[in-house]
Amino acid sequence: MTDSLTLRRPDDWHLHLRDGAAMASVLPHTARQFGRAIVMPNLKPPVTQTASAVAYRERILAALPEGVRFEPLMTLYLTDNMPVDEIDRARDSGVIFGCKLYPAGATTHSDAGVTDIRKIDAVLARMAELGLTLQVHGEVTHEAVDIFDREQRFIDEVLAPCMQRHPKLKVVFEHITTRSAVEFVRSKPEGLAATITPQHLLYNRNEIFRGGIRPHFYCLPILKTESDRTALVEAATSGDPRFFLGTDSAPHARHTKENACGCAGMYSAHAALELYAIAFEQAGALEFLEGFASEFGADFYGLPRHEERIRLIRRDWAIPASYHFGDDEIVPMGAGLTLPWKLEIA
Ligand code: DOR
Ligand code: ZN
Repeated sequence: MTDSLTLRRPDDWHLHLRDGAAMASVLPHTARQFGRAIVMPNLKPPVTQTASAVAYRERILAALPEGVRFEPLMTLYLTDNMPVDEIDRARDSGVIFGCKLYPAGATTHSDAGVTDIRKIDAVLARMAELGLTLQVHGEVTHEAVDIFDREQRFIDEVLAPCMQRHPKLKVVFEHITTRSAVEFVRSKPEGLAATITPQHLLYNRNEIFRGGIRPHFYCLPILKTESDRTALVEAATSGDPRFFLGTDSAPHARHTKENACGCAGMYSAHAALELYAIAFEQAGALEFLEGFASEFGADFYGLPRHEERIRLIRRDWAIPASYHFGDDEIVPMGAGLTLPWKLEIA
């Protein structure tokens, strides 16, 4: 049995950091594990302009613990009204690495999102020209579409036609949850990759309803079937560079999740790598964790791989029941569970 695992420092290619005191609470968890992270722009109000992304980046850097090196990779939030020259400004800033497509109404803070992707065709064309990546929340939002079918319908109705209209556009299909999404990514020659979260590797949708309703397992896209989960595990652990790590760690105060209308999002930044290591070990594929966590994402985004190394050691530790979150608290993924892997602090 492997007792320790040395990896190139990993990056998180999909992360929610929030802002203010909430951000200051969660940022150290991410910065301990990851060298960089693609930071989602779904603040309230959303980060739609280069100037606000640059200011948000400064707030993140200012909130880092003393001596910690961590690079936030910023994104812009696409709206129906995004001006094309905002893409030029984003590119010129040197700190913005993509634009996020939230179909309007799809998830947390997506009300200002895009109502019809064709409305932003000129913006997408400019992104393709300048090499900015499109990060996609891949779910249709029509009332009549079943929540478990929203990703599949998005592929057929939105993503596939969009990629045909913009063959040069680099796309990351974020937090994929279905066998269909895995097959779609595999079917494309290049320019398309996908991130996969720890929760979608470790759990199927039964977990949301095990013995009662469990709001801390509610995220979007929602957990899917066991067949979908096994397809995701197979993709993540196959060494295929089109699949890489993106936690979608999405903290919400406990009372907003344990609520008659609970928010979507699971918080995993406290133990992200350890959780992925469990999934990879269960699949007998620990040797593929480094590519998934530390290499393929950087390669896709055209950024250097880190030279620094981190170490996971086999040591039991219990995830706390909660962490501070500004003036509130968050219930982390795996609260109360004992994990067999621990990231060693240098
Ligand atoms: O579960 C989710 N939470 N999915 C998202 O797409 C957004 C995220 C959040 O910001 O809380
Ligand atoms: Zn997200």
